[in-house]
Amino acid sequence: MTSAQGLKLVEKDASGVDTKFRADILAGLSQAQKATPARWLYDDAGSQLFEDITQLPEYYPTRAETQILKTRGDSFAEMIGAGRAVVEFGSGSSLKTPLLLSAIAPAAYVPLDISGDFLRAAAQDLAEKFPGLPVHPVEADFMRQVALPDTVADMPKLGFFPGSTIGNMVARTSVDLLRNMRETLGEGAQLLIGMDLIKDTDTLIAAYDDAAGVTAEFNRNLVRRINRELDGNIPLDQLQHEARWNDEHARIEMHLVAQTDIVFVVDGHEFAMAGGDTIHTENSHKFNRRTSSMLLLAGGWETQARWLDDQERFSLILAEAKPNRSAP
Ligand code: AVI
Repeated sequence: MTSAQGLKLVEKDASGVDTKFRADILAGLSQAQKATPARWLYDDAGSQLFEDITQLPEYYPTRAETQILKTRGDSFAEMIGAGRAVVEFGSGSSLKTPLLLSAIAPAAYVPLDISGDFLRAAAQDLAEKFPGLPVHPVEADFMRQVALPDTVADMPKLGFFPGSTIGNMVARTSVDLLRNMRETLGEGAQLLIGMDLIKDTDTLIAAYDDAAGVTAEFNRNLVRRINRELDGNIPLDQLQHEARWNDEHARIEMHLVAQTDIVFVVDGHEFAMAGGDTIHTENSHKFNRRTSSMLLLAGGWETQARWLDDQERFSLILAEAKPNRSAP
């Protein structure tokens, strides 16, 4: 797959294996605490399972953020105004993006996504819902600085990054992303970003370990993917999903816990786990007013406004690109 900017986004070897996937999984399984980057949870089956998660009674973030978008349109219109190019990091989430676009009357919509197929489908959907709105999809890795289409060069920009996806990154990575967003969006830009809130541990654990076992399947699907794509024989029936609250890092962690001592092979390499050892597969950081502001500041963004849902579970934050100037 090749992006509009001529970058190779996914490298596959002669046997069709994603070389970055292989490298990440082998490196992650070789560590004392086995850990794999969360992005690999999202193959087709994983993406569908995540969609299913968003409908679960225990998984409140999607509903809470949608409620904010539905009820705060007037405030968005006032604080963002009309005529901006909305640049969405990740292609249009089916429900949320139209709510934002209807509230603020933008001049253009620019979805950025690494997956061209997903991107084109989302862009077409939005173009149908908003006839007359110029839609310019860009196939790119939004974790890096992205060159936006010339047609939006002179428009003020609003970055949109819903879903608390920022929470899936460790601080160093999220700061890099925020800084790159600032470079991508340019001077005078605003950013509307979803950040899930710290709350009681039971509510958090239930959201990541639902009664129907959908999140467990989402987690275990990574093992299916490894076994299928990297010729592995990890015994899936010996690994159990666990959601843990890590208070020190203010995050939910997903782990796959070995139920007994196991030895397995992936891509010709042998690995062992003792019973109780885990593969750490995802972090989902949670925030409060101070930590969200601090993270945004570290990435070059100053908080302008912050909206919560009626049960105060989730925050949607409007920030502006902080000018580079000398300060004490
Ligand atoms: C995509 N991301 C914001 C989700 C989250 O809540 O961290 C992924 C997820 N993992 C388990 N459930 C949902």
